[in-house]
Amino acid sequence: MKRSGGSDEAKRRAGEAAADRVTDGQVVGLGTGSTAAHAVRALGRAVDAGLDVRGIPTSVASRELAREAGVPLTTLADARPDVAIDGADEIAASDAGFDLVKGGGAAHAREKYVDSAADELLVVADPTKLAATLAGPVPVEVLPDARPVVADAVGALGGEPTLRAAERKDGPVVTDNGNLVLDCAFEGIDDPAGLAADLSAIPGVVEHGLFVGLADAVVVGREEGVEVRESGG
Ligand code: A5P
Repeated sequence: MKRSGGSDEAKRRAGEAAADRVTDGQVVGLGTGSTAAHAVRALGRAVDAGLDVRGIPTSVASRELAREAGVPLTTLADARPDVAIDGADEIAASDAGFDLVKGGGAAHAREKYVDSAADELLVVADPTKLAATLAGPVPVEVLPDARPVVADAVGALGGEPTLRAAERKDGPVVTDNGNLVLDCAFEGIDDPAGLAADLSAIPGVVEHGLFVGLADAVVVGREEGVEVRESGG
């Protein structure tokens, strides 16, 4: 699964601009990845300066980063996010607002239920994430024992699944939830909502990385500033 080739400066602008929109007393879903990390660090600095926020992390990595940055944490057992700030691998405008591919860091299962629980989802990105249409591959988190049958079912949908390999460990990536990830290539994603429904219906799939119509705004960091695109959906 490819990760962003965008500049860290653009990611920083996006993350910091999204963090600036957080107001006193809010609960914030803390996304995963290099762009959302800038928002978490900015929230930590804001907390140092007196802002009262609590974060709900979407991964082990975002929890560790929030702790380092000094963002107080809570859980979905005790609170719901007013706003979530999260990255994406691909972003395309659609009738539903924005469609996303997420899961480059294999955190999309927790990201999806935290982002969905938020009143507002702000997606932070550099311009390399913007696309006319989604292309994938779509990360699919699967129960380990179900991998062969999920792979068959993805094949029946016209997809080509590849088990995600770990980079500094022999063997596959194991998610924060103890599962595996199939990166599923399709020849174009003409109907993201239809594909999302088909993938969700496969027994053994924990979650896939298509986020259809969830984002309320996309904050794009550019070299010269920040562009905010609001959802029309
Ligand atoms: C984590 O699994 C992903 O959904 C990330 O949010 C996504 O890959 C974006 O990451 P970067 O901001 O590092 O590109």
